[in-house]
Amino acid sequence: MKYFDLPQGRMPALGLGTWMSAPGEVGAAVTKAIEFGYRHIDCAAIYGNEAEIGQALADVIARGVVRRDQLWITSKLWNDAHAPSEVGAALSQTLSDLRLEYLDLYLVHWPVAMKKGVKMPQKGDDLIPLSELPLIETWKALEACVGQGKTRHIGVSNFSSKKVEDLVQASEVKPAVNQVELHPYLQQRTLIEACQRLGVVMTAYSPLGSKERPSVMKQEGEPIVLEDPTILEIASRHQASPAQVLIAWALGRGTSVIPKSTKAHRIEENFASAQLELSEQDMSAIAALDKHRRYLDGSVWEVPGSPYQRASLWDGEQ
Ligand code: A2P
Repeated sequence: MKYFDLPQGRMPALGLGTWMSAPGEVGAAVTKAIEFGYRHIDCAAIYGNEAEIGQALADVIARGVVRRDQLWITSKLWNDAHAPSEVGAALSQTLSDLRLEYLDLYLVHWPVAMKKGVKMPQKGDDLIPLSELPLIETWKALEACVGQGKTRHIGVSNFSSKKVEDLVQASEVKPAVNQVELHPYLQQRTLIEACQRLGVVMTAYSPLGSKERPSVMKQEGEPIVLEDPTILEIASRHQASPAQVLIAWALGRGTSVIPKSTKAHRIEENFASAQLELSEQDMSAIAALDKHRRYLDGSVWEVPGSPYQRASLWDGEQ
């Protein structure tokens, strides 16, 4: 397994995603994953399943399958808790749900601020413009959480190069990770190069194309990366599955990657991707597939009267 060396620990490159992992299924999925050898679990408060994950973590640790210090647990601050006075309480709730004393990594989930108690915005008034609640104010509260030992690292998610760069300039504790959507149809080379230059590790979410996301986030006739003919051809040549090719590609280009599954056989299959070595030719064939296609394009923040628009969210980055 590849690792990324960060100031307070090593992040395993391959982890288990838990977005859309249903209640009643997610605990078993996390247990299976850890039994198969996963040591990195990616969580978030808004996924609504951290308490069940916490139960699973407590069980595997109690059974001696793994020690806490062998695990890398990430979670994320939801948009309604960006106010500095809310950050500590949000992290404490996550720690209590996950039954942990500390996180390995705590991310700002989106560069989007919302009023307290809003899960998803319905109207402009549910959101707070960044001019009123700047990201650096939220970040300073995250820095304080590091000082208190509640999380070993802090980072961001869905940040453009510009937003990462601004944060690196203004912060004391640098962002360790930027977690964004990455797959062959959305390769984000400019962002990857910027983060590399800034010493920020990239984690790829929705590496399999997020086919399970809510229907409001789907468009008719969109291309399906798991069915791409080039991916299928490479998979059949390596006697691997298309998902394994996508995961091996993400690892091969130097990113961390967190495929989601609640099916034991897929959790195992995805973990085995770390053994698959793609050739340079395979890597360049996949490099040619970029469509700058965001499956999660941020349009959910564009409710009527919203201060957030996609152009400013991504700072024009494709
Ligand atoms: P399931 O949980 O039923 O296995 P992403 O990480 O891009 O969001 O993709 C997650 C989606 O891909 C889920 O719908 C998940 O379904 C499915 N999935 C996970 N692993 C595989 C795999 N090895 N082959 C095909 N589909 C997979």
